[in-house]
Amino acid sequence: MRRRHHFIFLYLTSLAYRVTSAVNSLPTRADPECKVFPGDAAWPSESDWARLNASIDGVLLKPKPAASACYPGPDYNQAQCQFLISGTSSTRFWLDDPLTELAQWTQGSSCVATLTPAGNCTRGGFPEYVVNATSAKHVQGAVNFARDNNIRLVIKNTGHDFGGRSVGAGSLSVWTHWLKHTEFIPSYTIGEYSGMAVRIGSGVEAWEVSNLMAANNITVVAAGCNTVGGTGGWLSTGGHSTVTSTFGLGADQALSLEVVTADGNLVTADPFTNQDLFWAMRGGGGSTYGILISAIMKAYPPISILSSSLSLTVSSTGNVRDVETFWQGVAAYYRFAANVLDAGGYGFSYIYPMANNTYRFTTSSSFPGMAPTAARNFMQPLYDTLGRVGISIANPTIGSARPYGSPRGGTGDRPVNTRYRSRLLPRENWEDDNLFNQTMKAIRTAAEGGFENNFYFHGTLASPTEEVAGRSKRSTETP
Ligand SMILES: Cc1cc2nc3c(=O)[nH]c(=O)nc-3n(C[C@H](O)[C@H](O)[C@H](O)COP(=O)(O)OP(=O)(O)OC[C@H]3O[C@@H](n4cnc5c(N)ncnc54)[C@H](O)[C@@H]3O)c2cc1C
Ligand SMILES: *[C@@H]1O[C@H](CO)[C@@H](O)[C@H](O)[C@H]1NC(C)=O
Ligand SMILES: *[C@@H]1O[C@H](CO)[C@@H](O)[C@H](O)[C@H]1NC(C)=O
Ligand SMILES: *[C@@H]1O[C@H](CO)[C@@H](O)[C@H](O)[C@H]1NC(C)=O
Ligand SMILES: *[C@@H]1O[C@H](CO)[C@@H](O)[C@H](O)[C@H]1NC(C)=O
Ligand SMILES: *[C@@H]1O[C@H](CO)[C@@H](O)[C@H](O)[C@H]1NC(C)=O
Ligand SMILES: *[C@@H]1O[C@H](CO)[C@@H](O)[C@H](O)[C@H]1NC(C)=O
Repeated sequence: MRRRHHFIFLYLTSLAYRVTSAVNSLPTRADPECKVFPGDAAWPSESDWARLNASIDGVLLKPKPAASACYPGPDYNQAQCQFLISGTSSTRFWLDDPLTELAQWTQGSSCVATLTPAGNCTRGGFPEYVVNATSAKHVQGAVNFARDNNIRLVIKNTGHDFGGRSVGAGSLSVWTHWLKHTEFIPSYTIGEYSGMAVRIGSGVEAWEVSNLMAANNITVVAAGCNTVGGTGGWLSTGGHSTVTSTFGLGADQALSLEVVTADGNLVTADPFTNQDLFWAMRGGGGSTYGILISAIMKAYPPISILSSSLSLTVSSTGNVRDVETFWQGVAAYYRFAANVLDAGGYGFSYIYPMANNTYRFTTSSSFPGMAPTAARNFMQPLYDTLGRVGISIANPTIGSARPYGSPRGGTGDRPVNTRYRSRLLPRENWEDDNLFNQTMKAIRTAAEGGFENNFYFHGTLASPTEEVAGRSKRSTETP
């Protein structure tokens, strides 16, 4: 039973550089379909772990789940438990914790912070051991140990993964969090790119990238959420940002990557070296192809950004009379948003179902490099359309322009129970009236019943065309 936990574990596959001897050295002692699990005879002994630890400068951790303070037993500490529940909001407690995955349910919720625990704190999907890596050598040590002992290997950076891919029961975890190197490179040339760049370690978070921007008067594409990785899962799964319609996705920013592959080698992946790995790492999914150590990414001159927010509420006191008008208003915004994206902008929206078949829609449209008056004029045709369906937007809010690379902080995020599913909607759905209506119908159907079942709809709109991504000349980049 133990081996059938629904926790995702990673089997790293390398591409062109698989070293045959490493593959041949896979032990035969375990059922090849199963990884060795704690308690199995083949599980490494204390002295095996101690040898690993000694070979990686003593950075091996065997952490306890933080919330064990809330459960009966030797770790019980009521004050600490209370702190976990109500005192961490302006701290980095959970973000600096080696085990925590922010989607708590993916770990099995086996040791959550609560004043009324039912049962005991158990390890669930938390890894057994964590390598607190501060160098590529530590990462290589972990990869080699996991491979040679046939144990599960997971990679955790910030733990933001919605599907729990940064935890795994019975695993050795590589924690990239402290690979915090940041460096501004005033002039960098590779292939067809010639311009400013930055090199960032794979533990750097979006807020730290923002601080690097502010310090050097540059723009680097980074997630809107402060504590999402600056590279890691964000870069390798696409990675969107308020400036994505101007500069492309996170994956489009990568110029050269330093990667540890499944055979334990540290390699460079760029348009000329290990091109297939370079291609795969930019969108092939976090943890699928190797462990990123650092990335050289494009940097641009500074830009300012401003946003314009809009909200529609169906209720006696809201600005929308009835549900049909509400959905017409939502459709008007989404249709208009194509113009926002074509102007280099971005949309960030929510549809919250409320009681008695009522709804609230909130959205903000961001415009890089636009002045407030221009943004107000830009949005006016939308307000006119809304007026025609009977929705009056009395005082549209346009924020003031601020530098995109403003200093940011990164505190407060904590484990939650949100479950996400996502769909990528193609631009064609916006080009054709009938297809657009069907798209809106699907969104409406997805939101209906949300109040009773406690879900909502979140739409992010961006247009990372090949042109803005700097990929108009694909020949040298695509293997
Ligand atoms: C509150 C919240 C806000 C978000 N906001 C945004 C947003 O504004 N824009 C956006 O694009 N996305 C956003 N996301 C989604 C986020 O980008 C993804 O969850 C992303 O995968 C997180 O990557 P990470 O490295 O920070 O997290 P992790 O959970 O640590 O890692 C995610 C995946 O990548 C792998 N991975 C991590 N580091 C490495 C590495 N160095 N090498 C190889 N594999 C690695 C992990 O094993 C895991 O599979 C948000 C998520 C949350 C929970
Ligand atoms: C690894 O070694 C360091 C330094 O000796 C030690 O502090 C740490 O407890 C060890 N880790 C484990 C899991 O034993
Ligand atoms: C919790 O652990 C204690 C001590 O190991 C054990 O006696 C008890 O049965 C456990 N409780 C539950 C609900 O599993
Ligand atoms: C991990 O390593 C970093 C950098 O050396 C250190 O600051 C941090 O305290 C370590 N974390 C844990 C939980 O040991
Ligand atoms: C930042 O860069 C811009 C354009 O590259 C330049 O005009 C501006 O003077 C710089 N600001 C500072 C404070 O250096
Ligand atoms: C929903 O409608 C019912 C019946 O009209 C009413 O009693 C209730 O107060 C309404 N709930 C809300 C939250 O408006
Ligand atoms: C799409 O929906 C709008 C608003 O309901 C309607 O006016 C229009 O006729 C529809 N178009 C098509 C092609 O179905």
